[in-house]
Amino acid sequence: MRTAGHLLAKILHDIKPAIKKGATTLEIDGMIESEILRLGLVPECKGYAGYKHATCISLNDGVVHGVPSDKVVLKSGDFVKIDVVASYRGFCADMARFYFVGNVSLDVKKLADVAQWALDSAITLAIEGNHLSDISACIQKIVEKEGFGVVRKFAGHGIGRNLHEDPEIPNYGKPGLGPILRRGMTLAIEPMITMRGFDVKTMGDGWTAKTVDGSIAAHVEDTVLVTVGAPEILTRFSCSEN
Ligand code: MF3
Ligand code: CO
Repeated sequence: MRTAGHLLAKILHDIKPAIKKGATTLEIDGMIESEILRLGLVPECKGYAGYKHATCISLNDGVVHGVPSDKVVLKSGDFVKIDVVASYRGFCADMARFYFVGNVSLDVKKLADVAQWALDSAITLAIEGNHLSDISACIQKIVEKEGFGVVRKFAGHGIGRNLHEDPEIPNYGKPGLGPILRRGMTLAIEPMITMRGFDVKTMGDGWTAKTVDGSIAAHVEDTVLVTVGAPEILTRFSCSEN
């Protein structure tokens, strides 16, 4: 999982210059898939429940599961979220990063900052002895204090040999509930937040999830190993960046 995570983190870091005006989300998906294969990883989204691509690329009011398309052409001001899962020798890592195309509004930057802050804060709680819902409560508290919404329909999850394993990790809830975390557990923590309403709808392609009220949404995700002390973030390749 660590190998998959470090390589994926590098891919999502290095792809940054390609997330620019005029690029299509299908082209970006293709570049990421090529890198995944070149590095000896398996793109786990492809074939998952019939999904046809290596990545999910969601724009603006898209929350998650945006389907890459040659009809989606990036323009200045777009807020892009890329979510990708890959495995190495059968063990998965799941992560999402966000990108700005040209100039995005200050509101979008604030939303992105809060999503990142919620994720980083929640990760510090992935320690042996804490309750699972401490993570959920931490995310909700930070996001709502800033006046943003927490999406209820999707959640983080355990991860390992399979992309989705128990437990489910909602991004809201009361602290001190649910299973107690133990060293060796691996969790995909992924706040999904919106500027206003948190209701989401699935579009006609059967995948793309957008906010009902058209609010811009942010999503960021890491796969984390629970330890006794500081958690190990498996999907970052250095302590400071990505
Ligand atoms: N990270 C996404 C999730 O946890 C992965 C989706 S793969 C897909 O839902 F095949 F469902 F797109
Ligand atoms: Co996930």
